This record gives sequence, C-alpha cells and structure tokens, in this order.
Amino acid sequence: MPKLQILEFPDERLRTKAAPIEVVDDALRTLIGDMFETMYDAPGIGLAATQVDVHRQLLVADVSEDHDEPIVLINPQIIEREGVQTCSEGCLSVPTITADITRAERIVVTGLNRNGESITIEADDLLAVCIQHEMDHLQGKLFVDYLSPLKRQMVRKKLEKRARLERETAEVSA
Ligand code: NI
Repeated sequence: MPKLQILEFPDERLRTKAAPIEVVDDALRTLIGDMFETMYDAPGIGLAATQVDVHRQLLVADVSEDHDEPIVLINPQIIEREGVQTCSEGCLSVPTITADITRAERIVVTGLNRNGESITIEADDLLAVCIQHEMDHLQGKLFVDYLSPLKRQMVRKKLEKRARLERETAEVSA
C-alpha cells in the first residue's frame, strides 16, 4: 500500500472543512488502510483525512502500544463531553512542536465504522484527546490555533525554516 503524504502547517489545505461521507465503499476502505499505514509509519496515534489532503469526514486512531486497537470513525459526532484534562499534544502536520492543550476528559462519540455500521465510542484520557484533536482537523483547525498569536507565529517561522532547510538539503543531494 502506498504511504500518503502528510500536509504540514502552514499549508492552507489544512484549513479545509471536510464534507460528510455518504457511501462507505471499497475505495474508502483502501484509503483507510493507507491512512493507518501512514500513521503507524510516521509514527503517530491519530490521523485525519484532511492531513492527507482528502477533505472528507474520516479519522483513524490507535493509542495502544502494540498497534492492535485501530479505530475508524466516519462522520464523527461528539454527543457527550465531561470534565477537563490538559495534555501535551503534538501533530504529524506540525512536526517537532508540542504544546499543552486543554480538552474534555471524557467524550462519547458516534459515527460509522469501516463497514458503514453505526458505532458509539466512549473515550477518556489519551483516546479522548486524540479523537478531539483529529475531529478538529476535519473542521480545518489545528492544535496551534489554541496558542497565542505570538506563539503560533513562532511555530510558523520555525516550520518554514525547517521546510527551507529540507528543500536545500534535497537540492544538494540531488
Ligand atoms: Ni494532528
């Protein structure tokens, strides 16, 4: 399976709002497989379709150590949220950056699984953080949006410099 390219902040495509998915078919399941491969390879614990430039409401996650608890959520909706927790977050679209972000401690989320069946997931701790983070992506939102404008500007400069260095290195080795 091909590994997908992950968009990186400040790429404007990350700001696209994802459209609901109407048909869960084999093409979508192929995308889901590719997203898991890309996520595990990165490595990361969650990936939203937005991050691979597919603007549909789909996310994958696996917060287990052994990569044996894969979760697929299509058209996710949070129907309950409770409590608060602050967690140090990172993002495959914002490499090398982490920040403390406050979110709900426990959520109940509904959606469809990879077979198009309705599912309800009760999540707390890290899985709750992960699902809320990925659902933000589907709305075109990034965790750095929770930071102050000044801090976000610092992140932007750091990543633009990093991208520039990567391009230069690629040119030298070409
Ligand atoms: Ni992310």
